[in-house]
Amino acid sequence: MAEFVEIFEVGPRDGLQNEKRQIPTADKIALVDLLSRAGFRRIEVASFVSPKWVPQMADSGEVLAGIARAPGVSYAALTPNMKGYERAREAGADEVAIFGAATEGFSKANINASIEESLERFRPVAEAAKGDGVPVRGYISCVTDCPYDGPVAPEAVARVAAALRDMGCYEISLGDTIGQGVPETVDAMLAAVLEEVPAEKLAGHFHDTGRRALDNIEAALGRGLRVFDAAVGGLGGCPYAPGAAGNVATEAVARRLADLGYDTGLDLSVIDEAAGMARAMRGVAA
Ligand code: HMG
Ligand code: MG
Repeated sequence: MAEFVEIFEVGPRDGLQNEKRQIPTADKIALVDLLSRAGFRRIEVASFVSPKWVPQMADSGEVLAGIARAPGVSYAALTPNMKGYERAREAGADEVAIFGAATEGFSKANINASIEESLERFRPVAEAAKGDGVPVRGYISCVTDCPYDGPVAPEAVARVAAALRDMGCYEISLGDTIGQGVPETVDAMLAAVLEEVPAEKLAGHFHDTGRRALDNIEAALGRGLRVFDAAVGGLGGCPYAPGAAGNVATEAVARRLADLGYDTGLDLSVIDEAAGMARAMRGVAA
């Protein structure tokens, strides 16, 4: 039997957060409802950040309230601080994610905190979630390159990974936020992170700006990673990472994984339909 590799769908969050045009809540709900039929175990649908910083995610509570929850699917949300965590709980997010960075420049630009300050803010979120029985995922941005600080030392990523591990994150997603990583830098970064966190607790999150995301996924597969974040239609970017193009497209990752002999358990016809819907929402020709 083919080995299972999970694609964690992040399109409704990472894909749409960057949109200038306000996307109607009903359209977001329709996208999530379609994705819920594709076979994902986890879909990131919401982000409880400051609406002043990311207006596109201001209706996250309404999105979570409006979707038809499919059994067995975990609907995830970003929570940068306790205020975000409380909003996520109220909205019924099944799991939450704290998100830090490997570089000071990006941490400051994205969440207005140094790396150390951000970890202090995450700690109570992780503790509260533990008490509530809510799984917490961790993200690290800029794992190979930073739009502010340049190339990133693998050890800097490993340090933050160790801190998130110690807070109890069940999985740590390693983000090539600006899509500048190449298999060599991804491999070197993973070698350092694997000293701290085993492959079963890591995920790859590759943006595709440099068109190397699929190659980077292969490099990460070689290091034992079996979870990859992706966004239908290749949507995405990060509002605080200039030049961050779309996440790697879910449909492309699913096809590459199938070619490599892995099973993703996904229905490609539903994913293709969702990719068309997502592109149309952005005003890009389907
Ligand atoms: P701050 O201004 O330092 O926060 O922002 P503050 O604590 O000083 O509060 C300022 C105001 O924001 C207050 O309101 C707070 O109540 C409010 P006021 O009194 O002025 O009316 N506030 C909130 N409101 C709603 N929800 C909250 C919240 N927190 C404070 N949770 C903060 C700090 C972290 C809030 C801000 O910087 C922020 O929201 N940043 C989010 C940026 C973001 O969402 N970036 C994109 C996601 S990360 C990403 O895409 C990367 C990833 O995909 C991986 C990768 O690709 O690398 C995950
Ligand atoms: Mg991202």
